[in-house]
Amino acid sequence: MQQLIESVRPSPSEARAAITLGIIGGGQLAKMTAQAAAQFGCEVVILERQPEFPAGSLATQTLLGDWDDPDSLLELAALVDVVTLENEFVDAAALAVLEQHGHTLWPSSGTMRLIQDKLVQKQTLAAVGLPVPGMRAMERIADVVATAAEWGFPFLLKARRNAYDGKGNATLRSLWDVEAAWDKLGGHRGNPLFAEQFCPFTKELAVIVTRGVHGEATTYPVVETVQHNHVCQIVRAPAPVAPEITERAAELARRAVAAVEAVGSFGVELFLLNDGEILVNELAPRVHNSGHYTIEACACSQFENHVRAVLGWPLGSPALRASAAVMVNLLANADGPGMPQGLTEALRVPGAHVHIYGKARSGKGRKMGHVTALGATHENALAVAQRAADCIRFG
Ligand SMILES: Nc1ncnc2c1ncn2[C@@H]1O[C@H](COP(=O)(O)OP(=O)(O)O)[C@@H](O)[C@H]1O
Ligand SMILES: [Mg+2]
Repeated sequence: MQQLIESVRPSPSEARAAITLGIIGGGQLAKMTAQAAAQFGCEVVILERQPEFPAGSLATQTLLGDWDDPDSLLELAALVDVVTLENEFVDAAALAVLEQHGHTLWPSSGTMRLIQDKLVQKQTLAAVGLPVPGMRAMERIADVVATAAEWGFPFLLKARRNAYDGKGNATLRSLWDVEAAWDKLGGHRGNPLFAEQFCPFTKELAVIVTRGVHGEATTYPVVETVQHNHVCQIVRAPAPVAPEITERAAELARRAVAAVEAVGSFGVELFLLNDGEILVNELAPRVHNSGHYTIEACACSQFENHVRAVLGWPLGSPALRASAAVMVNLLANADGPGMPQGLTEALRVPGAHVHIYGKARSGKGRKMGHVTALGATHENALAVAQRAADCIRFG
């Protein structure tokens, strides 16, 4: 009998002792998700395009391949119970093949299709009545000139796809900027672009919402994000704004993720205008930099809740464990190794939670790690986090 059982070749899922999560992409977001998955005894398989990446050391198995190639995606899916993503750049049509073959993918390809084109995303949000900045597609450079005549300056030209950390944005301040911006964003190569009205915000806010497979949702504290050159530098939790602003921001965030039928932890970026109006800037169909503080500052982190959501498990509490938390990003000054100088000095700062992502190389402006500190006030927490961050140097 024993022999007979052993001779029956189990299906891949029966052969696995642990629940296995497949992650498309192996950067720092996958790494922190893999750390959360490990807490539940889950295994992680990662599909990446290049051999060295932050989550590599935590993966049970790694597949090297093109994540827009349905065959690579199917190879990953065959090894895991659920597939999830750490970026919005994977082609939604390729992802749909996973669902057509009966694999579980969260967020779904339909959600990814609505989000990965930023113009479609904003039109989707506008269609359900959510306030978004004015925007329109730009087919040719003459459309930008015509829009300038109508809107005046400044306004933004943005890439519809594959943009992050401001890399797909250009702010137009006069007609002299139009051609350079069009070329910088690849308009001359046919890269689809759109124009967006400039929002004179007083603060940028962000909210992580984790939504489960049955539509249940949990909303993290509304935070303030501080961008410099379109890249996030600091996150303050909770945002130092009036309670009615917090409530409105949280409500808009919940409606935004529901509008795209999100499953998993999603980041929602918002602009707070000086009259108190709030606009939705954009959604990220994944864990988000503005939620890294949740690792130490919340009962259940955005990463743990993402794992719980995509595996169909109960969601955990997003409650803050301190009156204030601040996260400071560690951005590289220049090209260099992925390990920084000054780590030991940073680790001497009491209360500073230092994260180094383990990227193979640094590059100017690249996000290489972050530091979080909790405190009685934002000033206390920022002082601790900044003291540790100031010790660390990449490049
Ligand atoms: N319409 C806008 N008006 C004013 N500032 C903007 C506008 N759109 C973007 N920005 C600034 O640029 C940053 C990055 O832009 P975003 O569209 O969020 O792209 P990404 O985060 O993908 O790089 C925003 O956080 C904000 O600081
Ligand atoms: Mg953004």
